[in-house]
Amino acid sequence: MRSSLFYYLILPLVLLQICSNLATAGSTVRFLPGFEGPLPFELETGYIGVEESEDVQLFYYFVKSESIPETDPLVLWLSGGNCCTSFSGLAYQIGPIKFEEVLYNGTLPKLLLNPYSWTKLVSIIFVDLPVASGFSYARTAKASQSTVSQACNQAYEFLRKWLVDHPEFISSPVYIGGDSKAGIRVPIVTQLISDGNEVGIEPHIYLKGYILGNPVTTPGDGNYAIQFTHGMGLISDELYESLKLSCKGEYQNIDPSNALCLQNMQAYNQASNHFSASFVLLYFEKLVTIQLLSNINKAHILEPDCPYASPKPNNLFIGRRSTIQVFCEKTRELKIQELAAPFTCRMDGYRLVYHWANDESVQKALHVRKESIGEWIRCNCRYPYIRNIGNSLPYHANLSIRGYRSLIYSGDHDMIVPHFGTQAWIKSLNYSIIDDWRQWILQGQVAGYTRTYANKMTFATGGGHIAPEYKPAECQAMFERWISHQPL
Ligand SMILES: *[C@@H]1O[C@H](CO)[C@@H](O)[C@H](O)[C@H]1NC(C)=O
Ligand SMILES: *[C@@H]1O[C@H](CO)[C@@H](O)[C@H](O)[C@H]1NC(C)=O
Ligand SMILES: *[C@@H]1O[C@H](CO)[C@@H](O)[C@H](O)[C@H]1NC(C)=O
Repeated sequence: MRSSLFYYLILPLVLLQICSNLATAGSTVRFLPGFEGPLPFELETGYIGVEESEDVQLFYYFVKSESIPETDPLVLWLSGGNCCTSFSGLAYQIGPIKFEEVLYNGTLPKLLLNPYSWTKLVSIIFVDLPVASGFSYARTAKASQSTVSQACNQAYEFLRKWLVDHPEFISSPVYIGGDSKAGIRVPIVTQLISDGNEVGIEPHIYLKGYILGNPVTTPGDGNYAIQFTHGMGLISDELYESLKLSCKGEYQNIDPSNALCLQNMQAYNQASNHFSASFVLLYFEKLVTIQLLSNINKAHILEPDCPYASPKPNNLFIGRRSTIQVFCEKTRELKIQELAAPFTCRMDGYRLVYHWANDESVQKALHVRKESIGEWIRCNCRYPYIRNIGNSLPYHANLSIRGYRSLIYSGDHDMIVPHFGTQAWIKSLNYSIIDDWRQWILQGQVAGYTRTYANKMTFATGGGHIAPEYKPAECQAMFERWISHQPL
């Protein structure tokens, strides 16, 4: 009796287990340098090959839900920026670990647990996409180039293959999520999956909806920075009225013959007190724009300002971080001496990851293929990445018609993608309001404001750019309510 049970029930299960293990592209990570002891959550990393001959190797970090992974939703997370690693999502925003906030002193930065991880509720695949970002890489020169549309197709192929490799998640409800510039890619990927499901592409993906934070959506988003600065009291009423009259809502591509608008914009830049001073440096034949935000921190206008290095144009800055890093560290040193504080701003925290991710022991622990990358860069396009789609609004409209749920949240202190712009494009969809503008509360305190529309679209405010970096507890609660179909 016992032996027949073994042969008919247990042995096939064991074999299935072995076979499914063999098919898996990823490897389990039990320890991470910088984190004390074994990881108290399940982390898997790996590569999935996409495109012709799998010449594009996309790296991912998969964190299994710490709740009920068998039935919890599965989220595919795309990071913002043009070529930013999804590790930003994992270690700075919604993932289970974060860096200890101390200045780098020569030893490997330490990792701590993030109690507000969204992986307490869902499983998340953080994928380095496009191919130019993070640990993802290409095997040929041709495969190293991509466009937004290609990157989106690759995300869809990636997810199909990942699910085939992980059959235990094949019936999980799936959401696509991302923030900032992923505001263009997320709705496109969601639509590709929906289209694929409709024509019977296997495996069928149980797509439920999408989640976007501070999403770049239309080319006009940036125009709302003016309304934002006025709403936040950074410019005078008179200047705002004059700007509106003279520029007629277009503050980005100003008609050079519109002298009054130009003059007002100059006043705006001055009144808002040297938002940014950009200068171009030529380092080792590489053109680099260094932007110093001297007063207002655009990511969160109430936060201290930090020097910010932005290499431009992207593809001219290849590989080495050191010149920029050295420059930044020098600038920081000056600031730190001025302020005499041990840890003055988030930028210091952002820099820790360079020291961590470029450490050999870390790359080994993450099962990174040695030949795959040069220096690891958090946000930089090592290869050409062409932004051939700059407006995702038509995709939102399509997805809502098809009945997918969406959560759109805006850090309301974010000046990079101001919430006024997000509200304007949502309004342009003409959805009726189901639950009108109201506070949403966490532990007796106002966490932000929300409005629910027909077509299962929920809008919420609170925080900066990116919201969970500033309001981790609130954002986790917001996500928990939304993912479990509760009102915010
Ligand atoms: C750097 O700081 C860490 C605390 O984060 C400490 O453990 C370590 O000893 C320090 N290293 C040096 C070289 O000062
Ligand atoms: C929206 O859906 C329609 C019908 O499926 C399709 O023809 C159209 O191309 C879609 N729009 C975009 C921007 O993909
Ligand atoms: C929304 O309504 C306005 C005004 O009625 C109209 O011009 C616009 O085309 C509508 N937009 C959509 C997406 O239906």
